[in-house]
Amino acid sequence: MGLLVPILLALLASLFGGFYLLGAFRKQRPGEPPLDRGPIPWLGHVLEFRRDTAKFLERMKQKHGDIFTVQLGGNYFTFLMDPSSFGAVFKEARTKLDFSAFARKLVDRVFHFNQIEHSKNQFHVTNNRHLMGDGLVLLTESTMKNFQNLMLHSIGKGGDQKTWIEDGLFMYSYNIVFRAGYLSLFGNVSLREAGSTEKSFEMDRIQSDELFTEFHKFDQYFPKLAYGVQSPRERIEIRKLLRLFWKTLSLQVVKNKENPSDWVREEQQTTERQGMKEFMQERCMFVMLWASQGNTGPAAFWLLMYLLKNPEAMAAVRREVDRVVTESGQEVRRGGPIINLTYDMIQKSLILDSALEETLRLTVAPVLTRAVMENMNLKMSDGRAYQIRQGDRISLFPYTAVQIDSEIHPDPLSFKYDRFLNPDGSKKKDFYKNGKKLRYYTMPWGAGVSMCPGRFFAMNELKQFVFFMILYFDFELKNPNEEVPDIDVKRWGFGAMQPTRDVGFRYRLRF
Ligand code: HEM
Repeated sequence: MGLLVPILLALLASLFGGFYLLGAFRKQRPGEPPLDRGPIPWLGHVLEFRRDTAKFLERMKQKHGDIFTVQLGGNYFTFLMDPSSFGAVFKEARTKLDFSAFARKLVDRVFHFNQIEHSKNQFHVTNNRHLMGDGLVLLTESTMKNFQNLMLHSIGKGGDQKTWIEDGLFMYSYNIVFRAGYLSLFGNVSLREAGSTEKSFEMDRIQSDELFTEFHKFDQYFPKLAYGVQSPRERIEIRKLLRLFWKTLSLQVVKNKENPSDWVREEQQTTERQGMKEFMQERCMFVMLWASQGNTGPAAFWLLMYLLKNPEAMAAVRREVDRVVTESGQEVRRGGPIINLTYDMIQKSLILDSALEETLRLTVAPVLTRAVMENMNLKMSDGRAYQIRQGDRISLFPYTAVQIDSEIHPDPLSFKYDRFLNPDGSKKKDFYKNGKKLRYYTMPWGAGVSMCPGRFFAMNELKQFVFFMILYFDFELKNPNEEVPDIDVKRWGFGAMQPTRDVGFRYRLRF
């Protein structure tokens, strides 16, 4: 009996401690946003969140309004759904709201890459230097050459050029755009290795195609990996894929390539200088491949899909593409030189820009998250203020909060290629909610410190792809009545969404 009481007390204390750690006793304090811990201790709402993030957040918004805190897998996330208040998050000092603390964990879990804080800062410099400004002009030029090799290599080679080729539009677009991006960033097979230019082009085509097949396998595991819910068999398969990417992107392999981008070369030099272990440098390269290629290919699919389903939009883009080529003094003709599609040319296509922006509005849906580094006061645009606790996270899901809000974008689920154009043909930037002009009216690239540094390069790649498709190919849906497929809800939160199924199409060279 003498021992029983202390044992019982100890048991009770550890039970209590366990529940405390599981977040079972957390209560909404005065001044805090509404708190919804969810049905399962510690896990909270994570199952419903993972099943369909957009639907879950809409349900929470209906229940609690435009700010609320939910428990997801042991962490508390405050979701802010009012776009007029987004500035409060993006302008907050890094000492209070930190992007990298959260991103680091994800990158570690998915890619086994541990970032060094200093290299992260240097990475920002590298991004700005080589993915924007003059660096971007060089990169755009090498991307054009790679698109030409991948898409137009058989022109003028004889044989039956005019046969229709059937494919899935998603796989076709993802494949071509991935390979052009990969070759432009990580370099081409060198002349030394291949023996001739022709052979090096061919090796680029074959090797990049093989790499895409493996990348696509990894990509399909990505949502499970991000949530850490793979089966043991999947873990083994993923490990195998990772090893392949690490080997393919190793220092030695990339150093032997011709013309790797300055973006990749500078990052390699930085990490080497900082004494990062070689195996970690390889992992860093795969993170860069993932960041640069995981979204652009799927976006290319949606863009072509919407153009194919909207003849008026396709005709307007086609007219613009033809005008830009004519103004450059070039002409697409049988036996003539392949169009030299320069950086300047693709900056002159405002209709295509708008169609692209509209595509991204409808199909890119990241969850943007910041770690709360110290207790803070979050001020909303209407004057309300909320206390947010240190250790929590603040998240935004602009897809429902902004991109498909019918007040900001009337008829929000329809594709309107000219939604981002003013009547005079200039870029439209004025969008309103509650009578207030919005700074953030579509956010496929995120915002603030972590805003996608590759956005200009990605837009250029997508436009180059459309230019070459329109200039050199006839292409059509196999079934003209085919509907635009649904979005696969498993990928909410990770950037560009993917379709639930592929769509049959056919294409053939026009010349
Ligand atoms: C359609 C294509 C793309 C989309 C929709 C996209 C979207 C995004 C988004 C939403 C983020 C911010 C994530 C956050 O704040 O949590 C991001 C970050 C990033 N993106 Fe992109 N991206 C695309 C293409 C690219 C390309 C082509 C590159 C490189 C060449 C690139 C490089 C990066 C990098 C390095 C980051 C991390 C930035 C940081 O850590 O501060 N992206 N991207």
